[in-house]
Amino acid sequence: MNITVVNHPLIQHKLGLLREGEISTMKFRQLTQELARLLAYEATRDFELETVTIEGWCGPIEVQQIKGKKVTVVPILRAGIGMLDGVLDLVPSAKISVVGLYRNEETLEPVPYFDKFVDNLNERIALIIDPMLATGGSMVATIDLLKRKGCRHIKAVVMVAAPEGVRIVNEAHPDVQIYAASLDSHLNEVGYIIPGLGDAGDKIFGTK
Ligand code: PRP
Ligand code: URA
Repeated sequence: MNITVVNHPLIQHKLGLLREGEISTMKFRQLTQELARLLAYEATRDFELETVTIEGWCGPIEVQQIKGKKVTVVPILRAGIGMLDGVLDLVPSAKISVVGLYRNEETLEPVPYFDKFVDNLNERIALIIDPMLATGGSMVATIDLLKRKGCRHIKAVVMVAAPEGVRIVNEAHPDVQIYAASLDSHLNEVGYIIPGLGDAGDKIFGTK
């Protein structure tokens, strides 16, 4: 299985707080943003740098800047929106592409209802964000859409992943690296991650 589980103490501590059954909407939202920020830090670790010369206070100096490809952050609606501000804190100039999908509760198949992509996806690194990778259907569908639009460099950033979903994404898109705060145990009979977080979208938006 190919997944990077980010074992930073702050990430693991915040994830533990997030798993509290009676957590408030406010606390869930806040922790989701904090985790997104920390996961994005890890997911951008291999971005290539180049040396450029700038005019410093004492004359020209060489500094490092991120080379080449620009970033598009791709939240999967709805729950991915909860991670967006955290990622933008680190990559403030990123453009945002949006994919709207929900899971049919009986078949667990993703049902697409909206998408809007920025231009020149072939020149961009896409960072897909979604708190939950369960069966993997939503993630595979989102990667399919991005690739159809010409995007060739894609990373997936999730808070909690199930082994079943990771295998599906790995098989369909072996080139896409997945970053997660946790690889959990399994899916239950209705496709929820165990121990997981429950319904992340409902917890972020305060719906039931
Ligand atoms: C959740 C979650 C993922 C998807 C994961 O969204 O945010 O998008 O399920 O499940 P999968 O890996 O089995 O596809 P949901 O369908 O609940 O929609 P929401 O974000 O609008 O609440
Ligand atoms: N979507 C969620 O929000 N939680 C799960 O456990 C699975 C899918």
